[in-house]
Amino acid sequence: MIKGNLLYEGKAKTVFETDNPKELLIYFKDDATALNGEKHGIIEGKGVINNKLSEFFFKQLKDRGIKSHFVEKAGEREMIVKRLDMIKLEVVVRNIVAGSLVKRLGKEEGTPLTVPVVEYYYKSDELGDPMLNRYHIMALDLAKIDELNQMEHVAFSVNNILRELLKAKNVDLIDFKLEFGRFDGEVLLADEISPDNCRFWDTVTHEKLDKDRFRQDLGGVVEAYKEMLDRLTL
Ligand code: ADP
Ligand code: TMP
Repeated sequence: MIKGNLLYEGKAKTVFETDNPKELLIYFKDDATALNGEKHGIIEGKGVINNKLSEFFFKQLKDRGIKSHFVEKAGEREMIVKRLDMIKLEVVVRNIVAGSLVKRLGKEEGTPLTVPVVEYYYKSDELGDPMLNRYHIMALDLAKIDELNQMEHVAFSVNNILRELLKAKNVDLIDFKLEFGRFDGEVLLADEISPDNCRFWDTVTHEKLDKDRFRQDLGGVVEAYKEMLDRLTL
């Protein structure tokens, strides 16, 4: 595999072409942003951990029938993935009230939701990623109804699989964000699965083991990411 032209410099990752037109190389950076890009920082070692954790989760999901863009890990910070036509949506699944839901619903952080909730956000930096419903998505031609149904089905399956995996490691899955893209007529899971886009709490102490440590200036950020990696992979 040869690292080709830079395709896209994102906030947390950089995407390169490869010598295979159907594959891309994703490079995981240590950069972290919050508050729609207003807050920026470096979490030293984060990229290495997120690459490992994403590899772990995508492999576990594949073993349980969930297809993703993951091809192989190609270095400490590099992952080879299928080149997708990305769907401009962030698909969020929530089990417990946290983050933006605290204000929106006026519920205390940590309140369990009776059923898991799915939400869609328009991936648009200019608009600040507004929340959309299924009708907005279809009206804007962001995805077809059958693609939406597939994404929703996969999102809930991922929720069940990850909750089970994490429960065995004394971690509660509070919420997470997924992205999807099209490849040869199929909708595949894409991007990353890591403490950058999931909320993980220790089951007993409710200690936060995710990017909220950075968002809320709690300290011990990279230590929390490392703790997640150790619990899942050691
Ligand atoms: P952001 O775009 O929010 O700054 P990142 O820094 O994570 O996010 O950049 C990674 C970019 O790569 C994202 O825009 C994501 O949608 C895109 N991406 C993820 N997986 C794939 C893939 N398999 N094919 C094409 N693009 C992808
Ligand atoms: P929220 O509570 O801030 O809406 O976030 C819900 C989940 O989605 C949480 O696990 C963090 C993740 N997320 C992202 O990965 N990227 C984003 O841009 C946002 C807003 C949330």
